[in-house]
Amino acid sequence: MIGQCLVFLLLAESAFGENLTKFFQKKNCDPKCTFETQNLTSHSLAFFPTDCSTVCTHLSINEHTDLTEAQLASTFLSMKRLIGSLTVMDTKFKSISFLAGLEAVECGQYSIVLDFNNQMIEFGLTNLTSISCSNFEIIGYKKLRNLGFPNLKSITLDEFSSPFDEFVRLYIDPDSIDFCITVEEMETLISAEDVNVDGIYGKYCTPTTSENLCTFPEICPKIFGDVEVGSSSSIDSLKFMEIIFGSLIINGTNLTNFNFLENLKYVAQLTKGKSAVIVQNNPLLLNVSFPKLKRVRSDNLHTVVFTKNNRNLSLDVNACFGLRSDLGITTHWSPTFDGENCYLINDTANWLKKNKASSNQGSLGLLIFISALIFADLTSTFSGF
Ligand SMILES: *[C@@H]1O[C@H](CO)[C@@H](O)[C@H](O)[C@H]1NC(C)=O
Ligand SMILES: *[C@@H]1O[C@H](CO)[C@@H](O)[C@H](O)[C@H]1NC(C)=O
Ligand SMILES: *[C@@H]1O[C@H](CO)[C@@H](O)[C@H](O)[C@H]1NC(C)=O
Ligand SMILES: *[C@@H]1O[C@H](CO)[C@@H](O)[C@H](O)[C@H]1NC(C)=O
Ligand SMILES: *[C@@H]1O[C@H](CO)[C@@H](O)[C@H](O)[C@H]1NC(C)=O
Ligand SMILES: *[C@@H]1O[C@H](CO)[C@@H](O)[C@H](O)[C@H]1NC(C)=O
Ligand SMILES: *[C@@H]1O[C@H](CO)[C@@H](O)[C@H](O)[C@H]1NC(C)=O
Ligand SMILES: *[C@@H]1O[C@H](CO)[C@@H](O)[C@H](O)[C@H]1NC(C)=O
Repeated sequence: MIGQCLVFLLLAESAFGENLTKFFQKKNCDPKCTFETQNLTSHSLAFFPTDCSTVCTHLSINEHTDLTEAQLASTFLSMKRLIGSLTVMDTKFKSISFLAGLEAVECGQYSIVLDFNNQMIEFGLTNLTSISCSNFEIIGYKKLRNLGFPNLKSITLDEFSSPFDEFVRLYIDPDSIDFCITVEEMETLISAEDVNVDGIYGKYCTPTTSENLCTFPEICPKIFGDVEVGSSSSIDSLKFMEIIFGSLIINGTNLTNFNFLENLKYVAQLTKGKSAVIVQNNPLLLNVSFPKLKRVRSDNLHTVVFTKNNRNLSLDVNACFGLRSDLGITTHWSPTFDGENCYLINDTANWLKKNKASSNQGSLGLLIFISALIFADLTSTFSGF
């Protein structure tokens, strides 16, 4: 999978990648501040424009880099803005704090790749505030504990991104036992309009609670852990929630709509396999639109799951596609209503329309059953992939 990902990145860059020189021209790069040589080594070091605060470069620090962290730190002392691409791969460095002065990276259709640095503990890019790149990839670690981008606030597509890019492809999967993501980092990532957060894996670092960040059943704007709304919940206070770092579960209520979730914008579950929004046993639920919910994250393909609510919901094509589009879901797997995704609900509704004259409950049941079987089969095929 990692191999595939890299090959994809390389292919994407060579197939769609324009001439690097042209990109530097579009960005008005100063030739004196341009370092096109890719691998930084003791031989190429002399050509690095150490006095420039903006450097245009395809910078690659890798196993050929025969320089110490101190040498690198003094090389990058002035560099605040990097235009081009940044690769730190296969090194033995413990951090990349030699790039701590870096504030912005602008890649156009190019990438930031920080892969396979198996001694790295933290990146330590303390001054980094903005990234505008097509890809940002962090994989293959053993000791990484934190991302260490405490000031990263803006992640967007660059003005010169490829027309094929719909969003910044983030792939953060260090696969290191000690690795955790802070709730602040997740909030930055999930609230960035241009970012696909489906490729972020890890667990949350245990946060410090405060007035603004609490654990259910306390209610405040940012909630760490799952929120379970049940028959005995007081609905009024839930309007203060803005983001849940866990799942939203609504189970066994007489609620008819979600209007009480007035301010909820994001639900970001990191626990493996757990859906982000689970709505179960609400027989009176008729409207499934959320007033402000924009984005949900879960590594379960069934991110948003409705089961055993009002039967009529399982036939409501517009409600299903509406919710899917509100949440920016691009896969076919979500949301589901009693196991059926929007496309199956559409098929069922079309079938029903066609057969209105000779309405027959028995064969409708059979159709739903067959659809569910096909869907379950597709799901298992996909999960096995
Ligand atoms: C890139 O573009 C520049 C200017 O348009 C041209 O001089 C150069 O030969 C091109 N390089 C490649 C590798 O195509
Ligand atoms: C730069 O490093 C890459 C990755 O190890 C390697 O494939 C490439 O040959 C190197 N280029 C030069 C000019 O040394
Ligand atoms: C980071 O930014 C602060 C504030 O602008 C500055 O004082 C500090 O020197 C910068 N750090 C580095 C490593 O350049
Ligand atoms: C839902 O409404 C029914 C009928 O009014 C009532 O019997 C039941 O207790 C209600 N359930 C909840 C969870 O409020
Ligand atoms: C919903 O409540 C029912 C009955 O208490 C329980 O069996 C079920 O596991 C709950 N569902 C979720 C998703 O928590
Ligand atoms: C459903 O709920 C949404 C959001 O709360 C609201 O904007 C919409 O008007 C409701 N639709 C109906 C038919 O009541
Ligand atoms: C489902 O919709 C039908 C037709 O619009 C309506 O007669 C029925 O009462 C609805 N069922 C529920 C449980 O709301
Ligand atoms: C629903 O099904 C109809 C008939 O097959 C099709 O024309 C329509 O495009 C489908 N809607 C969506 C959103 O896929």
